Amino acid sequence: MTKAIFTGSFDPFTMGHLDILKRAASLFDSVTVGVLENGEKHTAFNAEERCALIARVIEEEAFQNVRVEAFTGLAVELAKRTGSDCMLRGLRDAGDLPYEQRMERLNLHLAPDIQTVYMAASPAYAHISSSAVKEICALGGKLEGLVPAPIQISIAERLIKR
Ligand code: PNS
Repeated sequence: MTKAIFTGSFDPFTMGHLDILKRAASLFDSVTVGVLENGEKHTAFNAEERCALIARVIEEEAFQNVRVEAFTGLAVELAKRTGSDCMLRGLRDAGDLPYEQRMERLNLHLAPDIQTVYMAASPAYAHISSSAVKEICALGGKLEGLVPAPIQISIAERLIKR
């Protein structure tokens, strides 16, 4: 039984995240989406809101082996708590790699039995980031194709109001 965690800020969850999650759901027995609650970053959506958006996507996609939870503290502790042996990360391009490798090595130092697995973003989604989504929406651009359809309106309502 191979269980994975897919951690991130998800502020907000994008089509790029969904691409990775779909592929992970068919590869792993189960995937826990871990939403970082106490990051250093200021977030547009609080952890509860980000979890609720992701839960809506999970329901819409009818994933049977995916769940979402907020976490504080170390990601390796979330992995241990959920009985996961893998930490999944998506890579948009080579620019993401140095940061991810540092994180992988730090996580290996903390928990040598938990492995990091990378998936390269599908070409159709490699240009999408949460920060680009926030900027585009705040400047009046459409979110179609950038964030999953069921959460587009909720995200736009929040970001346009800011
Ligand atoms: O979506 P992000 O912001 O790139 O996700 C970063 C995240 C949440 C995966 C990373 O910041 C994280 O794992 N934070 C939890 C704290 C931790 O475990 N730190 C040690 C490893 S660097």
